[in-house]
Amino acid sequence: MSRPVSQYSLTLIAIILGLLAVGVASWGPSLASGQVSSAQRWNPRRVPAGAEFVGDQACGECHKKMFGAYAQTGMALAMEPVADSRVLVQNPQLSMRVGPYSYEIKRNGKQSSYSVTDGKETISLPIVYAFGQGRMGQTYMLQQEGKFYESLVSFYNEPKGLDFTIGASRSVPESLTAAVGRLLTPNEVSSCFSCHSTGAVTAGQVRLDKLAHGVRCEACHGPGGQHVAAAKEGESDTKLIFNPGRLSGDELTQQFCASCHRGAEEFSLLRSMEINNVRFQPYRIFLSKCYSDDRKISCTACHNPHEPLKEDAAHYDPKCLACHALKGKPATQGSSSSCPVANKDCTTCHMAKIEVKPAHFKFTDHYIRIVKPGEKFPN
Ligand code: HEC
Ligand code: HEC
Ligand code: HEC
Ligand code: HEC
Ligand code: HEC
Ligand code: HEC
Ligand code: HEC
Repeated sequence: MSRPVSQYSLTLIAIILGLLAVGVASWGPSLASGQVSSAQRWNPRRVPAGAEFVGDQACGECHKKMFGAYAQTGMALAMEPVADSRVLVQNPQLSMRVGPYSYEIKRNGKQSSYSVTDGKETISLPIVYAFGQGRMGQTYMLQQEGKFYESLVSFYNEPKGLDFTIGASRSVPESLTAAVGRLLTPNEVSSCFSCHSTGAVTAGQVRLDKLAHGVRCEACHGPGGQHVAAAKEGESDTKLIFNPGRLSGDELTQQFCASCHRGAEEFSLLRSMEINNVRFQPYRIFLSKCYSDDRKISCTACHNPHEPLKEDAAHYDPKCLACHALKGKPATQGSSSSCPVANKDCTTCHMAKIEVKPAHFKFTDHYIRIVKPGEKFPN
């Protein structure tokens, strides 16, 4: 009996992927002027040539509350300016030893240096970009002879100290040069900046002079110049700014948020990453029986992107109960099954915290399910 069922679900996945692929075809930028409207779509990572950003400060003039709250979010802090990086200020001296190599990250006024020595020679470079808010950790971008390197060692919040960067081979480097870090290809450089900062990559070209640290308002809403000008004139033409709230639930999750968080469009690739794909929430939630085009299970059903992440389980209960009935209570019309075990703190059991060892962090598995004790990571 189980074969037809699994064939059905494979077909369903194939159909869904097919539909998504059609979606992608119409997704590309076709915006000659660099301006977008709500009728057009905005892909946060495909900024068309000519796009000019006015910056969060301009939005804050009118959207005051949102501007204030947003500054405290993980996404706003996805890249910290080195001059006032909380992580680098609070940890003014960090060190680690790998075989014959000693690493040191040291604060000096508004700068931090990253150095590695084998006891005879030392390479010391200024940190040019600090990637990540540091809730999990922070990785450093270094520059040597015009080329970018990802630091071989990163800061981890737990315990506060250095360890190998995720993805780096954890063996003793072959040479002092190799000990510094990994040379990034131009594609990787533009990828890193397009997910962790705003304005630095237009039409595939990296323009660091235009960079704003972190994911800013216009990363998600597109260039705001025309909207600001119209609003100041007292016009209320919302077509001048992109509002992702008008997308369907599935588009919002699997295309918009997934442009950085990665989702079902990359199904086979992400699946092959096994436990490391627990970081990619749109992909994980796609595997859940709960998942559909329903907005009640889209990313924004549980997370307001303008506010800091809520860490109390109680915040999420009403989100589950928007679809599931409470134990012992009659199901309201159209509601799904109820839990025979508990009436609250749903996510503590059904969204498992899964440790990825090299990350020193327990990620929240967005594959909502009945978690079986001792199960293999379901993928
Ligand atoms: C001069 C005041 C002003 C400034 C500056 C401003 N906005 Fe707005 N914004 C408004 C008003 C007023 C509305 C509500 C429009 C309406 O409903 O008619 C609005 C609506 C919006 C919407 C919702 C549009 C929709 O389709 O519902 C978004 C998104 C938005 N603003 C983003 C931004 C961003 C991003 C910036 C900075 C680039 C910004 N705004 C700057 C006044 C402003
Ligand atoms: C331009 C890329 C980009 C887009 C688009 C994007 N995110 Fe993010 N998001 C990030 C990055 C980068 C981080 C990691 C920040 C960090 O921890 O340093 C992040 C982190 C988060 C976090 C965790 C915040 C925390 O405090 O730990 C949540 C929740 C989140 N994103 C939700 C969303 C939702 C919902 C959407 C779609 C509406 C979305 N994101 C779209 C890049 C993006
Ligand atoms: C496709 C978009 C994307 C690219 C490319 C990308 N990141 Fe991220 N990064 C994210 C998102 C989303 C998160 C938050 C979820 C997670 O931890 O995976 C994140 C998290 C991080 C964190 C952990 C931050 C914290 O404390 O929560 C670090 C450090 C980091 N990225 C560094 C980098 C570096 C360095 C590069 C380039 C070599 C890079 N990232 C490329 C999207 C991206
Ligand atoms: C990570 C992506 C992301 C970032 C960054 C972001 N927004 Fe939004 N914004 C959204 C999404 C998604 C919606 C639609 C929310 C919904 O309808 O559920 C939205 C809706 C809005 C709206 C209209 C609806 C409302 O709730 O009033 C305004 C205004 C707005 N954003 C302004 C801003 C401003 C100002 C900033 C910067 C301080 C900002 N946004 C940063 C994703 C983002
Ligand atoms: C049904 C509710 C729900 C939905 C839908 C949801 N999340 Fe989450 N998310 C959570 C919970 C619960 C946490 C953990 C909060 C905590 O305890 O810190 C979380 C945490 C996160 C984090 C922080 C990193 C981590 O592993 O803890 C990111 C990033 C994130 N979510 C992104 C997303 C994105 C992107 C989407 C859309 C695919 C999404 N979430 C959809 C409930 C949800
Ligand atoms: C958009 C509606 C919706 C939301 C929101 C939703 N679910 Fe579901 N969920 C479903 C549907 C539909 C099913 C499959 C049919 C059924 O079991 O009723 C399901 C199935 C389940 C299952 C059974 C899975 C299995 O493998 O048998 C669990 C457990 C579950 N949901 C828990 C949750 C939790 C916890 C939340 C909140 C974090 C949540 N759901 C949010 C619609 C939803
Ligand atoms: C203490 C852990 C725990 C908490 C908290 C919890 N559940 Fe469950 N839930 C379970 C277990 C275990 C099962 C499987 C029970 C079984 O199969 O006999 C389950 C089953 C379910 C099912 C599947 C029911 C079916 O008929 O297939 C749903 C849906 C569900 N839970 C939703 C929720 C929701 C919604 C909440 C919050 C209101 C919640 N759970 C809180 C442990 C928990």
